Amino acid sequence: MKKIAIVTGASSGLGSHFVRQLDLKYNLDEIWMVARRENKMKKIASKLKKTKAILIKCDLSNLDDINKTSNKLKKEKAKVMFLINSAGFGKIGSFHELSLEEQMAMIDVNIKALTAITYKVLPYLSKGSKIIQVASSAAFLPQPGFNVYAATKAYVLHFSKALSVELKSRNIGVLALCPGPVKTEFFEIASSDGKPLDWKAKFMVNAKDVVAKALNDAQSNKMESVYSFYMKLLKISSKIIPHELILKYFKWN
Ligand SMILES: NC(=O)c1ccc[n+]([C@@H]2O[C@H](COP(=O)([O-])OP(=O)(O)OC[C@H]3O[C@@H](n4cnc5c(N)ncnc54)[C@H](OP(=O)(O)O)[C@@H]3O)[C@@H](O)[C@H]2O)c1
Repeated sequence: MKKIAIVTGASSGLGSHFVRQLDLKYNLDEIWMVARRENKMKKIASKLKKTKAILIKCDLSNLDDINKTSNKLKKEKAKVMFLINSAGFGKIGSFHELSLEEQMAMIDVNIKALTAITYKVLPYLSKGSKIIQVASSAAFLPQPGFNVYAATKAYVLHFSKALSVELKSRNIGVLALCPGPVKTEFFEIASSDGKPLDWKAKFMVNAKDVVAKALNDAQSNKMESVYSFYMKLLKISSKIIPHELILKYFKWN
């Protein structure tokens, strides 16, 4: 039976680096790349060294489209060694400023699609398989001005941690990846001027490094991957300092 990885959000950013690093570091037969932009996926696929890429053009805000991946799995009965849910997006702005449509779409992609894909892929995972769910450091505490996005990522973090306990007896690892700001296309979509807020720009890191650490952490069967000293500090602070105090005194925008 062929061994495969499934990577959503494979057309850019963290997802594209997962595809590249899986290709170099593991002996997989195929990497199934899932995203809407086929041309971008083709470019990334053409540069893979060892692994065959299978492109699945799919809009994850549409639950019917999600079945494209699970139907293909049903047909081919491949063994999924890695499921990496990296597709996601955020929109900066207060709840009342952003449109209902874009906030519902964040819930559709960041929560519903991730949950549905995980559920549908689960039967094809086995001993030693890894699930990596891309959450965010935004999951650590509520974020005014990035409200619904941060709430979707809090869901991803809690869902992943509980799932890692549920799947322990099957020897399947589940890692929640919680990066701070990363240099990708993310902020082009998130903010109206295409740039991160000034205080976030100071903590920007490279996608390649975040992904390398996440793959190592998954191999070490960790539940959570947090890259950089400042994000680790944020995680600890958000556990020690009451959220009410942080929300009252921190200048968010
Ligand atoms: N960059 C950061 O600062 C940062 C920080 C913390 C967490 N994250 C999280 O990291 C993950 C990856 O983001 P990134 O930074 O790599 O940003 P990115 O470069 O914008 O990548 C986002 C990916 O998600 C895919 N996607 C978005 N909506 C989709 C939809 N409706 N259907 C299918 N695919 C969809 C995009 O593909 P198509 O557009 O081709 O469909 C793209 O491949 C996201 O979950 C994000 O929330 C990012």
